[in-house]
Amino acid sequence: MIASVEEGYLAFSVGPSEHPKRTLVNIRRDREYVINTVPEALASQVQLCGEKYTPQASKFGLSGLTTLPSERVRAPRVAECKIQFECRLHSIMRFGESHTVVGEIVLMHARAGLVRDGKINPVDYGPLGRIAGRNYCGVRDIISV
Ligand SMILES: Cc1cc2nc3c(=O)[nH]c(=O)nc-3n(C[C@H](O)[C@H](O)[C@H](O)COP(=O)(O)O)c2cc1C
Repeated sequence: MIASVEEGYLAFSVGPSEHPKRTLVNIRRDREYVINTVPEALASQVQLCGEKYTPQASKFGLSGLTTLPSERVRAPRVAECKIQFECRLHSIMRFGESHTVVGEIVLMHARAGLVRDGKINPVDYGPLGRIAGRNYCGVRDIISV
């Protein structure tokens, strides 16, 4: 989610788990990471990446997703994602057994043709929304008021 529009901060929550989630372990270690936003076409791959695996398993290998090097951070980007944010860790806040990670966007990548007049048309982009479990939704019925 957006933590700050003007300054460019994004946040997400890491929930509790039996083993420390690698997402949190890696971010604490490297203090930088990439947020890859997911288009509808990648629903199955995203679900695969969300299953439980041993910490040694490669989610890239399991899902078939591939990497692209980043420019400002060491973590690679997911090549198949049309919008990626290279981020530097700002803070990690603990709420009970969950952690909210807040990062500063240091570079945003958007696939050619997606940005028009500084804006992204959500219908052209087709982001994947998650409802719960294995249920997802698309963004088509936009209500303009
Ligand atoms: C679509 C989707 C969204 C998810 N969102 C979150 C989330 O916001 N926070 C979280 O802690 N886990 C989330 N999960 C579950 C993690 O993907 C799962 O716990 C994963 O195994 C953690 O991997 P890691 O150990 O590599 O960090 C989500 C899973 C799916 C499939």
